[in-house]
Amino acid sequence: MAVILLTGGAGYVGSHACVALAAAGHSPVLFDDFSNAREDVPDRLARLTGAPVPCYRGDVRDPAALGRVLAAQNPDAVMHFAALKAVGESMDRPLDYMAVNIAGLVTLLGAMEAAGLRRLVYSSSATVYGVPDVTPTPESAPRRAVNPYGFTKIKGEEILEQLAASDPRWAVGVLRYFNPAGAHESAMIGEDPSGRPNNLVPLIARVAAGQLRRLEVFGDDYSTPDGTGVRDYIHVMDLAEGHRLSVERLLAGAPGHVLNLGTGRGHSVLEVLAAYGRAVGRELPYRVVPRRPGDVPVYCADPARAEAELGFRARRDLDEICRSSWAWVRGQAARRA
Ligand code: UFG
Repeated sequence: MAVILLTGGAGYVGSHACVALAAAGHSPVLFDDFSNAREDVPDRLARLTGAPVPCYRGDVRDPAALGRVLAAQNPDAVMHFAALKAVGESMDRPLDYMAVNIAGLVTLLGAMEAAGLRRLVYSSSATVYGVPDVTPTPESAPRRAVNPYGFTKIKGEEILEQLAASDPRWAVGVLRYFNPAGAHESAMIGEDPSGRPNNLVPLIARVAAGQLRRLEVFGDDYSTPDGTGVRDYIHVMDLAEGHRLSVERLLAGAPGHVLNLGTGRGHSVLEVLAAYGRAVGRELPYRVVPRRPGDVPVYCADPARAEAELGFRARRDLDEICRSSWAWVRGQAARRA
């Protein structure tokens, strides 16, 4: 049993990781500035896990706030989720992305070192592969930044590599997420983006809930089986399990690792829309519009290394992703009504 500090722990992936850690007997502690998370998430997590979840409000660029939580909770490891993550926004506000994602990481590492804590699980992204030459993409594929967001994730990985090379006491798990989607089976936590969602599954959920007239499919002339973009959608609870396994490896004294977290299976936009329609019980409307600038035709993980090194395997499929998302969205609508 370990105490794990989750920066960004009230957010989408962080809150699900919190549940997975608690279910395995660990004690999660949250640190969040609530810029993209709801205030009631800590209460929901307490109800879901059956125990209070300590939560500290703060910004990862604030060393004093980080110092306070580290001193008060004395965690065994940190999972660092707190970051900005929208590709389009990163092109409009690159300096904000560098400040939060790069300076925030360096500030966190300094606070950890000052506290004598050197075990970290880092949220990276498949975006570090840029436009991949090979799919399914292995971890050995070259890193290329194609937007400021991707640049910050590559820099984060490089900073962690330099740190671990300079001091072997650091053990870092770098996890490259493919496309997280879905919600916890309880429907008590899920993805709840502030403002208009950017990602496919929450946008389809808005169509299903009647808040959007139809899905705009960004291009059907890619060289994919049905012409629409293909992604490796991973259920957020599988992703959460991957984090638990990663931190447990580090706590067991293993050196760091760099791993893809994906399923190894790609699905097109139209396949996701059809699966969501099955979850809802009716076909959902769409129209094809031009390609979104900067989109890649196919992203798909080679999941072999994560299985070999962590025994990690995604267990939930696309239908489960859509069913759990819809249950969460319907529950939210009922609670707000
Ligand atoms: N799409 C549509 N219509 C929409 C929204 C998305 O057709 O309204 C399509 C996209 O063109 C793409 C697929 O749905 O083919 C998935 O798009 P998302 O925006 O949900 O996700 P991306 O794969 O573009 O981006 C995600 C994360 C990024 C990350 C990237 C690579 O949002 O942070 O995966 O890992 F960089």
